[in-house]
Amino acid sequence: GAPVQVDLEPLEPGQLLKVQWRGQTIGVLRRTEASLNILSELDDRLRDPESQESEQPGFAQNEPRALKPEYLVVNMHCTHLGCVPEMVPTVGAQPFDDDWKGGFFCPCHKSKFDLSGRVYKGVPAPTNLRIPPYRFVDDRTLLIG
Ligand code: FES
Repeated sequence: GAPVQVDLEPLEPGQLLKVQWRGQTIGVLRRTEASLNILSELDDRLRDPESQESEQPGFAQNEPRALKPEYLVVNMHCTHLGCVPEMVPTVGAQPFDDDWKGGFFCPCHKSKFDLSGRVYKGVPAPTNLRIPPYRFVDDRTLLIG
């Protein structure tokens, strides 16, 4: 499939945009400073905090799992059976988790991921959400694929 171009200019902090690429739903999330700061607190609750077993380009094997930390570009399909999780960005959101720090929740079998797409321990999804290949053409233009 051809690469997909995304204009980042209209994206507000905290907003998730979904686009289709090769038949997959790709999420582009403009993360807030607060949600980036939370990432480092989560390691002991995550199965693979350093993304050693998950699928991503080399440039995304880091805590924000991104080329530019502000933007998460993630394959939205759950690594369990492929449902598309919903974003639940609110800290403390219930009934997901009293201690919920914001992330993605898969309604099919209750897998949970943080806002880097890193999977929590004790859920059916075996690995972190996948990060597709992408690059920035300029300050406001993302190219996925
Ligand atoms: Fe997401 Fe099963 S498909 S938890």
